[in-house]
Amino acid sequence: MTDNVQKHPTLETRRLLLPPIAATDAEALFSIFGDAEAMRFMDCPVSQNVGDTLGVIERWMFVFPEWHATWAIVLRQTGGLIGMINYHHRDPWNRHVEVGYALARRHWRQGLTSEALGAVLAHCFETLGSNRVEATIHPENHAAARLAERFGFRCEGGPLRQRKLVAGEYRDVMIYGLLRQEWLFRQAALAQAASPAPHRESAPPPAGDRPSAGLLRAD
Ligand SMILES: CC(C)(COP(=O)(O)OP(=O)(O)OC[C@H]1O[C@@H](n2cnc3c(N)ncnc32)[C@H](O)[C@@H]1OP(=O)(O)O)[C@@H](O)C(=O)NCCC(=O)NCCS
Repeated sequence: MTDNVQKHPTLETRRLLLPPIAATDAEALFSIFGDAEAMRFMDCPVSQNVGDTLGVIERWMFVFPEWHATWAIVLRQTGGLIGMINYHHRDPWNRHVEVGYALARRHWRQGLTSEALGAVLAHCFETLGSNRVEATIHPENHAAARLAERFGFRCEGGPLRQRKLVAGEYRDVMIYGLLRQEWLFRQAALAQAASPAPHRESAPPPAGDRPSAGLLRAD
């Protein structure tokens, strides 16, 4: 089965551009992939030099977007690359896909990956037609867990034992999942929250189905 995903487009958000990653991004990405602290939970060896990072990018570029796509995270204001975000292990038959991301440390906790992930999730659900997006996260990676949770991902289980090879060591991860229906509900709730009061006519959903206030921040 093929669903004709030929190439992945540049995505845009308020502060960011997300163009497909390119070999010319190797030097900038090395500032992240060469940083052992930023790579602490990543299943990709810490780059020792720009050539190592170029090798990673070339492997990403070798895979068709039907299965995998990686974007650079670029700040509109400076034009500089500050991170990467991707989907991988896409399964078009069962319509699910996994997401991954890393940002340069000096940009952490400014809502930037939230902004990028919002755009990539929209692409996964609305353009690729995914029914489910997954993230596998080390139990101590609180930043990645919180990032997923704010989009409504649920921690569904784990630890999946020795699922990832990180810095030469097999590590356990928790599995997080977000369903298409949950994504659509969140988008509808965000749109309703943003619309003027007179248009808010429909009754609110039952409390148990309502995303928390944190999940309704639009980035
Ligand atoms: C995970 C990562 C991409 C998050 O990026 P970020 O741009 O700092 O995330 P955001 O600023 O969009 O924050 C998202 C949420 O996580 C929270 N958060 C961010 N860093 C956190 C931390 N160290 N501890 C706890 N919560 C954190 C933010 O407060 C925010 O939650 P909120 O909406 O309730 O305020 C970044 O920490 C990173 O690059 N880590 C190294 C690579 C990595 O581990 N990738 C994931 C592999 S599974």
